[in-house]
Amino acid sequence: MSTQPSTPSDRKTTASPPLDASVLDGFSDPVLLVDPEHTIVDYNRAARHMLGAGALGSRLDQFLNSDHIRAEIDARLAGTPATRSEVFLPHPVARYFELNVWRLPDLTSSGPAWAMLVLRDITESKKTAKMRADFVANVSHELRSPLSSLLGFIETLRGPAAGDVEATQKFLEIMEGEAGRMARLVNDLLALSKLETEEHIWPEDAVDVGSILSQVADILMVRATEYGMSFVLENMDGLPRVLGAEDELVQVFQNLASNAISYGQPNTEIRVTASLIENVPGGDGPGVAIAVCNQGDGIPADEIPRLTERFYRVDKGRSRTMGGTGLGLAIVKHIVARHRGALDIESTLSESTTFTVSLPLANQ
Ligand SMILES: Nc1ncnc2c1ncn2[C@@H]1O[C@H](COP(=O)(O)OP(=O)(O)O)[C@@H](O)[C@H]1O
Ligand SMILES: [Mg+2]
Repeated sequence: MSTQPSTPSDRKTTASPPLDASVLDGFSDPVLLVDPEHTIVDYNRAARHMLGAGALGSRLDQFLNSDHIRAEIDARLAGTPATRSEVFLPHPVARYFELNVWRLPDLTSSGPAWAMLVLRDITESKKTAKMRADFVANVSHELRSPLSSLLGFIETLRGPAAGDVEATQKFLEIMEGEAGRMARLVNDLLALSKLETEEHIWPEDAVDVGSILSQVADILMVRATEYGMSFVLENMDGLPRVLGAEDELVQVFQNLASNAISYGQPNTEIRVTASLIENVPGGDGPGVAIAVCNQGDGIPADEIPRLTERFYRVDKGRSRTMGGTGLGLAIVKHIVARHRGALDIESTLSESTTFTVSLPLANQ
């Protein structure tokens, strides 16, 4: 679609619009002038970009078919004071706009009055507001279930189970598990919020991924052994250093390796392989790619793009049993983005799943 300014011939209509073309083009939002029949008599560059070059002289509802817009224009032309309103336009792409309509006095005093419409695209801010509301609802929901379980057990321990040593021990163990779940959730939420506030700061240390991966393997060894699993680290020696924050990269690989244990096939190996790459995807320089691969059920292809969304799980029950918070991959995604790296997920059903993190080299 053209973004050229309107040419003079383009702007010639039945009557001269009361505003100069350069004034309208000064607005970055779409601005349209319509006559009482709702014919577009002038529009600025942004509106031309939105509606196409052929809109001039046509009726507005051929392009923006909305009862609300029609009613606003008629109300303004009838002299009702302007109010700010919102309008949803489903075509060609669903978008929300803030709509302002004014009546422009007829400057030549011979023709009719004009209505001026300004549309401000608020789709993104609407989306952000919805995401924020959904997030708060999700967090409350996630905290509420362990909390109500704790309250229930406290009540039982004070009432029916009071004095029952065996039941007390059993319930305390469950309560410990639920409190642990809440603690993990709060820790992950704090980690996410810290990452969000620091997103614009680039990590600047030169770190050795080989040593980070062996730290992670040590931390998770006991848990892996419980499931008959073990880590096999390949190609870790002599790797160049990457640009990074060590504690954050530990979080990345701890989350990926822990997922490999939780969602992998028991009694199999988890292979962690490093390789040098010429270009980090989406970047412009060499890097190190680290692939964490486990055998297992795999992930359906249509679920893969959603895995890094907060609280998204393929199998809620399994995540819960394994002590998941649903935030691990969201944290991974944030950290990788802050490192100007890339995350790639590949999975073959009933076979294997590989998460690959690519990180730019230090001193490039
Ligand atoms: N290696 C893997 N194999 C299969 N599914 C996985 C793997 N890693 C992650 N997933 C899926 O992605 C979901 C989100 O992972 P994550 O954000 O770490 O949350 P959590 O592990 O707490 O549920 C998991 O619940 C699981 O369904
Ligand atoms: Mg996880």
